[in-house]
Amino acid sequence: MTTQVLHLVVCAAPPAQAVDELVGLLQNKNWTVCVIATPRATGWMDIEALARQTGNPVRDEYQGPDSESLPRADAIAVAPATFNTVNKWVAGISDTFALGLLNEAIGLRLPIVVAPYAKASLAAHPAYARSLQTLGEWGVTVLPNEVIRVGAARDVFGWGPVVDALDRV
Ligand SMILES: Cc1cc2nc3c(=O)[nH]c(=O)nc-3n(C[C@H](O)[C@H](O)[C@H](O)COP(=O)(O)O)c2cc1C
Repeated sequence: MTTQVLHLVVCAAPPAQAVDELVGLLQNKNWTVCVIATPRATGWMDIEALARQTGNPVRDEYQGPDSESLPRADAIAVAPATFNTVNKWVAGISDTFALGLLNEAIGLRLPIVVAPYAKASLAAHPAYARSLQTLGEWGVTVLPNEVIRVGAARDVFGWGPVVDALDRV
């Protein structure tokens, strides 16, 4: 079976702590996963363990001119996608390595799945709904806000919708 490369962008919200579970589920589906974290998300993740799990270093910053580039992506997932990154992405801002990849992915028309994750007070901000709608209009698969949340649990997440959406892209 051929394997496809997935760039998994992880933003700084609670599900970042359990993203190793999502990586495992995606690997079971034969994805080769490269994790790209926002700089703030690195504080929520075990970068070394994820590098061992994926066989690829976790990238969080732009590197110098001689840096090794990532394997070319067949698809991109953003999980969790923060209010901050979603709004900056739609504005075309590239001030993190993750946003740079996401902006290019729009231009390249890559298949993208987004799992937005923002609490109700942020999700009610008019810019957020507008940004998510714009992503949808650009062809991005946008899952419902906090669809990966499992009840009131703080450290349990339901990654199924992300894996299923990637099956379909
Ligand atoms: C404990 C804690 C929980 C947070 N939870 C969320 C969240 O669920 N969703 C969100 O959009 N931002 C959340 N934030 C705010 C983001 O971490 C913050 O906006 C950050 O700048 C996002 O950076 P990034 O988009 O580059 O990953 C949280 C922050 C803290 C400290």
